[in-house]
Amino acid sequence: MATPSDAQRMEKIVSLCKRRGFIFQSSEIYGGLNGAWDYGPLGVELKRNLKNYWWRVMVHERDDVVGMDGAILTHPAVLKASGHVEGFSDPMIDCRTCKAHLRADQLVEKNGVQQCPNCGGKELTEARQFNLMFETHVGAAAEESSVAYLRPETAQSIFVQFKNILEVSRKKLPFGIAQIGKAFRNEINPRNFTFRSREFEQMELEYFCRPEQGMNLLEYWKEERLKFYENIGIPREKLHVLTVPDEERAFYSKGTYDIEYDFPFGRQELEGVAYRTDYDLSQHQKASAKSLDYFDEETKEKIIPHVVEPSAGVDRTVLAMICEAYAEDQAPNDKGEMESRIVLRFHPRMAPIKCAVFPLLKNKEPLVTKAKEIVALLRPQMTVFYDESGAIGRRYRRQDETGTPFCVTVDFETLGEKDPVLCDTVTLRDRDSMKQERVEIRKLTAILRERIR
Ligand code: GAP
Repeated sequence: MATPSDAQRMEKIVSLCKRRGFIFQSSEIYGGLNGAWDYGPLGVELKRNLKNYWWRVMVHERDDVVGMDGAILTHPAVLKASGHVEGFSDPMIDCRTCKAHLRADQLVEKNGVQQCPNCGGKELTEARQFNLMFETHVGAAAEESSVAYLRPETAQSIFVQFKNILEVSRKKLPFGIAQIGKAFRNEINPRNFTFRSREFEQMELEYFCRPEQGMNLLEYWKEERLKFYENIGIPREKLHVLTVPDEERAFYSKGTYDIEYDFPFGRQELEGVAYRTDYDLSQHQKASAKSLDYFDEETKEKIIPHVVEPSAGVDRTVLAMICEAYAEDQAPNDKGEMESRIVLRFHPRMAPIKCAVFPLLKNKEPLVTKAKEIVALLRPQMTVFYDESGAIGRRYRRQDETGTPFCVTVDFETLGEKDPVLCDTVTLRDRDSMKQERVEIRKLTAILRERIR
């Protein structure tokens, strides 16, 4: 259960996201577009770091996975065959008092009576199915033959391109096709900041295999994906694996796990890992009348491969990383007095800015020159931020709030003015421990690269 302090924590996180340029409401100056969000300068870096790391471990570091990037506009036949046109819907109920449209699972029950969560109204309509897909028209004529959909998941273009990719990649089972990209769902009630949006990104892998490998691979991918979250700074004890019960699983799935995270607004799904059997390829083969089978050279048999799918949300994972990183603690100011600070303890691998560089004083030309030389030295290797304004303590605080794991300060020792032994050394300050160490400039790049990898 989320408590009031969790609600306050979430409010603080949303406000920090806006203040520091992680996430803004989309079309904000026109009143906002519900369910759509824009990522600012720091948010886009965090998101890219996440997507790049996912691509690295799921594609680049493996021999058995290749990538693709499919179109968002999708032929209606694809989504008819997949079952989305008929069945991709949520039950919707209207409140007759405040006119809110609600998902059936959002109603609250008091004394055995269902009520509207917004106004407490008890006058509710019957549930009816609401299709979540966004329909559009391709070309100049807005008639039925021109209908296309914005894809509701990236997975379908992988299934539809299965044969092409199999041929060009010459992979043997088991192998996977990975994709990161936008998906669109006209959610009845977008909520919890970016958690449930109408436009969002997914990171999906369709891992094709023989039928007898499916259940083992479901376990394998669940474990791989748990490791992934730990490697981006989400501790194992905040992650939970829900075995989706038979009655809630898609009829074609032989097993599904939801990987959940303890958000301040409750335990919620980050990713689904599903064994989808041969359902998708079989459906597309039937509907398109094109063969989507796999010829096994060893057994000389043709089979429709089965598939295990780890499907993660980019925006939800970004939100989980921000929620996990957010902390308030005590830090000394320039006079050595303790003050409260807000700090984002991102895993250095994920942090939007890896290192900030400060000259101790902005009006001492040799300090500024040296600091700018260090920026130029580090910039080809990592994201760097140069800041010369305000007291050093204030500059540290600003970087703590944006989650920068390391700060480098150029001082008079760096110039060799106090002790020639310290010439060309700088202080390297760690965000979490706030400890400072003296390091040689020539070793700085290697030290930082090791810590942010
Ligand atoms: N291809 C399977 C699939 O799309 P899903 O459980 O509907 O499965 C996978 O979606 C992931 O996509 C979810 O675990 C979640 O992280 C993300 N996701 C789904 N709907 C979302 C929404 N409305 N807003 C943000 N992320 C969403």
